[in-house]
Amino acid sequence: MRVLGIESSCDETGVAVYDTDAGLLSHQLFSQISLHAEYGGVVPELASRDHIRRLTPLTREALLQAGLALQQLDGVAYTAGPGLIGALMTGASFARALAFGLGIPALGVHHMEGHLLAPMLEPEPPAFPFVALLVSGGHTLLVDVPAIGCYAILGESLDDAAGEAFDKTAKLLGLDYPGGPLLAQLAEHGREGAYRFPRPMTDRPGCDFSFSGLKTFTLTTWQQSAQTGQDRADIARAFEDAVVDTLLIKCRRALEQCGRRTLVVAGGVGANRQLRTRLQTLDAQVYFPRLAFCTDNGAMIAYAGAMRLLHGASDAPVIRTRPRWPLSELEPLAQAGERQSVGMLRDNAG
Ligand code: KG4
Ligand code: ZN
Repeated sequence: MRVLGIESSCDETGVAVYDTDAGLLSHQLFSQISLHAEYGGVVPELASRDHIRRLTPLTREALLQAGLALQQLDGVAYTAGPGLIGALMTGASFARALAFGLGIPALGVHHMEGHLLAPMLEPEPPAFPFVALLVSGGHTLLVDVPAIGCYAILGESLDDAAGEAFDKTAKLLGLDYPGGPLLAQLAEHGREGAYRFPRPMTDRPGCDFSFSGLKTFTLTTWQQSAQTGQDRADIARAFEDAVVDTLLIKCRRALEQCGRRTLVVAGGVGANRQLRTRLQTLDAQVYFPRLAFCTDNGAMIAYAGAMRLLHGASDAPVIRTRPRWPLSELEPLAQAGERQSVGMLRDNAG
């Protein structure tokens, strides 16, 4: 089964083709960073307009790269949520219209399920069950994953997501948008231990997170420092160390709690080099997607959609998005398929 995947939930347009027999055939991405840079953050209306501009040419490119004609597609998967409503609507409308025109099924995919399954695109994918750490701009989640679609939330951020904390802290330190990767670069010049930041909520039981206090801590520390370039780098380092340490402690706790030996890390912050290195010290097998598939992309949506379509899942042919959509509401693959076949029988029976 060949599935076209479309991602347009925020500031990246991603299109890819996944073949359930041959694997990933192609992926194309356009990042809107330069479009939003002068505003210091994502401007939703500009994001939507740009997705509209990019979707058709990127789809052409993805098909060309895959060596396929439109008619050779068997399904279309698109990010239905969570995300910016206007941005989601562009991908949903495009995907639905294309699928309708081709007479093939279209399926709305959960963006975080896409992230969670992104390591499955690697040559040596993890085996179920595993614990997943999802760290993106909008979410920080620890999830127990016995199988695709079974997501038991072990912990989540009570305030800022990890990526959001990186971005906001970067802004406080005078860095441009998008702050996360720039702050990480700056931290590489910082000296370990020059400043010591708290590890929020690690002294309490459970796997929840709270990162918003680190932002304030950064600001106060910066204001009280001599505000030299070295101070800025040292503070960036202390912030990064605090986030990475906190994530490490909670991952260890989650693995112990569930008795799992496999950890999957995904989402934009999963591209953080320090995090990738430090998590390797856990007593577990740790899997990451390649860097390009940590941040938003169409390949993960094509994969997640293909898995569900293959098991018979389908949506009503209406353009529907869910800007807020708890991951725990998703259904296991088999169940989604069974529900679909029951639905189809009913439809056939009139
Ligand atoms: O998953 P993603 O591309 O988009 C969302 O679904 O949110 O994640 C983007 C987030 C941003 O907050 C960005 O600053 C952060 O991931 N990020 C990083 C790094 N690369 C991206 N944070 C820390 N270090 C990085 N190297
Ligand atoms: Zn994302």
